Amino acid sequence: MPLYTGIKVIDTLIPVGKGQRQLLIGDEGLGRSSVALDAIINQRGKDVTCVYVLIGQKRSTVVNTIDILRKNHALDYTTIVVAEASALPGLQHLAPFAGCAIAEYWMRQGRDTLVVYDDLSTHAKTYRELSLLLRRPPGREAFPGDIFSVHARLLERATCLNAAHGGGSMTALPIVETSLGEIAAYIPTNLISITDGQIYLDRNLFTGGFRPAIDIARSVSRIGGKAQHPRIKKEAGRMKLDYLQFLELEVFTRFGARLEASMERVIRRGRVLREILKQDRLAPLDIEFQMSWMVAFNDGLFDEMKIEDVSVFLSTLKKQVAQSGLRLDKPREDWVSAVSGWFNTEAKL
Ligand SMILES: Nc1ncnc2c1ncn2[C@@H]1O[C@H](COP(=O)(O)OP(=O)(O)OP(=O)(O)O)[C@@H](O)[C@H]1O
Ligand SMILES: [Mg+2]
Repeated sequence: MPLYTGIKVIDTLIPVGKGQRQLLIGDEGLGRSSVALDAIINQRGKDVTCVYVLIGQKRSTVVNTIDILRKNHALDYTTIVVAEASALPGLQHLAPFAGCAIAEYWMRQGRDTLVVYDDLSTHAKTYRELSLLLRRPPGREAFPGDIFSVHARLLERATCLNAAHGGGSMTALPIVETSLGEIAAYIPTNLISITDGQIYLDRNLFTGGFRPAIDIARSVSRIGGKAQHPRIKKEAGRMKLDYLQFLELEVFTRFGARLEASMERVIRRGRVLREILKQDRLAPLDIEFQMSWMVAFNDGLFDEMKIEDVSVFLSTLKKQVAQSGLRLDKPREDWVSAVSGWFNTEAKL
């Protein structure tokens, strides 16, 4: 079963399945927490119980996070576990395990759960502090040798139970911070190898205005595709090919090379797609809408559109899909005829 985050790029190209562990990785301030918050807000009405663990964060961040969850009515189904920066290192060390135990309790009762650990870099530093105080021998980057097993023990608890065990699940979204995009540092590589995939946020994309700043080429979901709805998977596969081809070609255009007409078309489509994939924070979208824009894009309905008009079109499309009540299991022709109908009426206005 898929776990929808409500984020276009993730639900279509880097899907997360229930019971999986997906790492959110990137430099400071690129929107990692925002992605996690969106994922929680999107669980409203979906019967997924959430836990948000804040480890070693500033008081202002803690207050802000709770505030966002409250304003978006997410507190009805979300537990927040806080060990802020001023808390004792022992408490900060235990916070993610406490959060995990809470989620595990719900999971054992047969519920689907989602846990966010924000973030495990701070957690590793706290563990380093404790270990050094206990005079344990320091290893790489002065972290104790067993930091890998500490994080593995935490994340391995995320799982999907079979029906004999009640059928609950725990999905984990751990967050890790890199410095200057260095994913080969000790803690990030550890976590990459423990998790089922990573969502990589990139500074250049962020400053270039592509937000959420998710780098599609460097993000992977190793097994999420298996949990995806076959129809979404098919559309997303076509779209991804177009996008990767575009990214490759775009590099050439930087040198001012003259392009053939067919390449020109690929680039035009890619630019439109990039515009479509942009998304504000705290605005999760449902999967039917994702289906509609992918169908529209794959059938070339966006091809003649000006970049400036894309966002207006998308918001009308969102309203239309919600009104129509179209579901994913409807055949593709139904989607195509509905979507192209809306595009025609919209174009006349
Ligand atoms: N999709 C988005 N669209 C526009 N702005 C965004 C988006 N996502 C994040 N931002 C902005 O980026 C900033 C950083 O976001 P956020 O706090 O989620 O990042 P972070 O990686 O968790 O940062 P920190 O290192 O402080 O924990 C916020 O001010 C937010 O407004
Ligand atoms: Mg954050």
